[in-house]
Amino acid sequence: MTIGILAAMHDEVADLINAMIAQSGNHVQRIGMRDYHVGTFEGQQCVVVLARIGKVAAAATAVTLIRDFNVAEIVFTGLAGGIGQRVAVGDIVIADRLVQHDLDARPLFPHHEVPLLGMSEFVPDNRLSTELTAAATAFLREDLPYSVSPESRKNFGIAQPVLHIGMIVSGDQFVADGDKANGILSALPAALAVEMEGAAVAQICFEYGVPCAVLRTISDRADASAHTDFGQFLRGVASHYSTGILRRFFAGRSSDSLADR
Ligand code: ADE
Repeated sequence: MTIGILAAMHDEVADLINAMIAQSGNHVQRIGMRDYHVGTFEGQQCVVVLARIGKVAAAATAVTLIRDFNVAEIVFTGLAGGIGQRVAVGDIVIADRLVQHDLDARPLFPHHEVPLLGMSEFVPDNRLSTELTAAATAFLREDLPYSVSPESRKNFGIAQPVLHIGMIVSGDQFVADGDKANGILSALPAALAVEMEGAAVAQICFEYGVPCAVLRTISDRADASAHTDFGQFLRGVASHYSTGILRRFFAGRSSDSLADR
């Protein structure tokens, strides 16, 4: 069974691809201007791909993973802006539902509803999300102090990062304005984090019947300093989170399958 791993930015998957190459070598297939890295990591067959930014890019990549690589599950990992009141830089959010905050075909269809599908919220797979929750919890508790330097943690104000489970919203906008973030929150008060891909991938996975999960590390607060915070976080911290969490996620799966034998 093959799992597809998607991220929007190079820094979020570069270490994972290198670790996979070190463990199994990899085979790269280029389709639609994207490199699909096929290999094995911690005993799990996977295809890792840089989806690029935005809902169209992510949806197209998810379809290719499903149709050309026959993946049985998809995990999206990357960064997000925190818009929930208690969501801080360095926290992790795992989606229990995803909404496209910029989808608005009113008055033909209700706000946020995907026309002709009759749905506004997409619910990720519970088992995959539970596995990611265990991996992220262990990462924050045991790995973070070693993998992210005290200096970086101090710079980003990461003291005791928290794992949240809740609504992630996606749209084709980098939100770097407190008023804009508040506007999204007043339409979707349960939203914890805003990003640019997750709900599109969740919609495709729903339409194809493929289980998916979305995990995001908070790089900024979607306010006026979001673009600076995002850039620094991406370069200095993001890969430690994504590689560390995925390493634990895969390791947990291989020990489960050993226990099943
Ligand atoms: N990804 C990380 N930060 C973000 C933000 N503020 N808006 C949209 N996507 C993001």
